[in-house]
Amino acid sequence: MIFRQFFDSISSTYTYLISSGYGREALIIDPVLEKTDQYIKLLNELDLRLVKVIDTHIHADHISGLAELRDKTKCITIMGEQAPADVVSMHVKDNEKISIENINLTALYTPGHTNDSYSFLMNDRVFTGDTLLIKGTGRTDFQNGNPYDQYDSLFDRLLKLPEKTFIYPAHDYKGESVSTIGEEKKFNPRLQVSSAQEYALIMNNLNLANPKMMDIAVPENKNLGFNKEKQKQLNGITYSRLKNLSESDEVVLIDVREPTEIEKKPSLLNSINIPYSSLQEYLRKEKKELKNKTLIFYCAVGERSALAIQISQSYNFKQTYHLIGGLNNL
Ligand SMILES: [Fe+2]
Repeated sequence: MIFRQFFDSISSTYTYLISSGYGREALIIDPVLEKTDQYIKLLNELDLRLVKVIDTHIHADHISGLAELRDKTKCITIMGEQAPADVVSMHVKDNEKISIENINLTALYTPGHTNDSYSFLMNDRVFTGDTLLIKGTGRTDFQNGNPYDQYDSLFDRLLKLPEKTFIYPAHDYKGESVSTIGEEKKFNPRLQVSSAQEYALIMNNLNLANPKMMDIAVPENKNLGFNKEKQKQLNGITYSRLKNLSESDEVVLIDVREPTEIEKKPSLLNSINIPYSSLQEYLRKEKKELKNKTLIFYCAVGERSALAIQISQSYNFKQTYHLIGGLNNL
């Protein structure tokens, strides 16, 4: 397995790159905008194909690299369903699986630092975002943070993982890079409390200054997506136009969402399911077959389907459309 930890010294952010091996699919957690060239360089050197990027929550101290990586690699952008970020092309909820080639992560909803904070469990390690830090915990005084929620996320979820589980946080300010659940249970000063009230008392009296970047980073990180206008420019159509067009035999209606999403919300009638990460392979294989067809893509929010337009155009498909706003907008 390939597992790399990057550090951004300006925001003290850790970013993680995961893949099952050279030449395979890769996933990145909590990328920092200014470091995207570094990630791309390593992806190229190791011959990895970035297919998914995750932010554990809306960050207040740096601009996320999600949009930049999406633009450069056409990857899927993932956050929890509570995240108010329009860049997210695939939302996950508690206990949902996120898969890339040979690797599965489980999303754990761990609110408290913010109300959209998730941790991601991968076998012997957990990416804890700002919920559990090494010998610390993320502040709970802005972005709908709540110390009582965080207490539950810590004591009822994360600390119940096996003690040997490695903890990889989104930040460290003291030069630590990894810890374990067992070590944090014993030595993390914030966790030596006997009740949620006691924990909240500590968190409510931290009196921390706001992060320097907060007023810039939070609004920007919420608005890194393709807005409706951009989606329209990329051959976006309305649902009624989609319905009209799809009455023709020459139309192939393609749902590019993943099976886990289709379970939550079924596909439109008469469509085929080609998960976005398999789309290039599909278009390459079926190029002759699809040559004279009209392709209509749709997804959850219109991000992946807009990217599908760009991808299909690179394969010289001329008649391509996608549903503005995706199924969640209907
Ligand atoms: Fe944070």
